[in-house]
Amino acid sequence: MSASGPTVIAQPAALTAWSDTQRLAGKRVALVPTMGALHDGHLALITEARKHADVVIVSIFVNPLQFNRRDDFDAYPRPIDDDLATCQRREVDAVYAPVASAMYPDGFQTHIEPGPLADVLDGPARPGHFRGVTTVVAKLFGAARPHVAVFGQKDFQQLAIIRRMASDLDMGIEIVGLPTVREADGLALSSRNRRLTPEQRSAALCVPQALAAIADGFDSGERDGQRLQAIGRAIIDGQPLARFEQLEIVDPNTLRSIVTIDGSALAVAAVWFGEVRLIDNRLLG
Ligand code: PAJ
Repeated sequence: MSASGPTVIAQPAALTAWSDTQRLAGKRVALVPTMGALHDGHLALITEARKHADVVIVSIFVNPLQFNRRDDFDAYPRPIDDDLATCQRREVDAVYAPVASAMYPDGFQTHIEPGPLADVLDGPARPGHFRGVTTVVAKLFGAARPHVAVFGQKDFQQLAIIRRMASDLDMGIEIVGLPTVREADGLALSSRNRRLTPEQRSAALCVPQALAAIADGFDSGERDGQRLQAIGRAIIDGQPLARFEQLEIVDPNTLRSIVTIDGSALAVAAVWFGEVRLIDNRLLG
């Protein structure tokens, strides 16, 4: 990286040319896809990417295709100057920050349709969301041509769907998943946290607390999915500022609900605080 910071690239063809140059020089290329508003969770992905590659590309693009609500898209934070400064501090080699018209020019019409992994949990709750994610990630992979790409387990379903896509479509890209980075009090870092009022921010702790209570139940020997769900639900329902959306105990591979856990399971939550929808999850076993 030069002293002036990462190379900032706005067009897919320019990113491909940059990546080809790296590959020709024998470098391994990593991609960290983000929607910006970078926080310590994203930074952990960048640090991890460095371990797997010689050069790191961070993409910053608030992808309109994956937002099923216009207000959520409009309200999504876009502190691009801060993000570029963060990438410079982290010695990111290239930042890919395309505008929407470069990603979806007139006439764009091809999408990647995910399979049954997208029919559960956030799939029905956010129609079209995962199709928007797979499509944009395939485009980012196509333009950046990375050897490896790093994603967070905070978006467990997204990670599972992307792994599947990369494998199903023979993309030849190694997909690395990283555990969720949390605040000291347990709240999972998220770009959406900055939209919470101080009261909502405290209330949001009920989400990791509910997941922790479920994990305690599991550790004490409870294997009944519904009973574990009820333990967590009681904690979320006890928080007046929380609006419950979903809490499921699922198979980590299929993401389908489990009646009786045999082995490991994943507890997945989606809870609203005002206009902000937070998600979190925790592996059991
Ligand atoms: P975004 O929400 O910006 O997240 C970018 C990456 O950071 C994702 O892989 C996400 O799982 C990871 N991440 C977010 N919070 C994290 C945390 N607290 N700990 C660890 N990792 C965390 O996810 C997206 O953007 C988009 O859907 C994207 C993949 C970029 C496609 O548009």
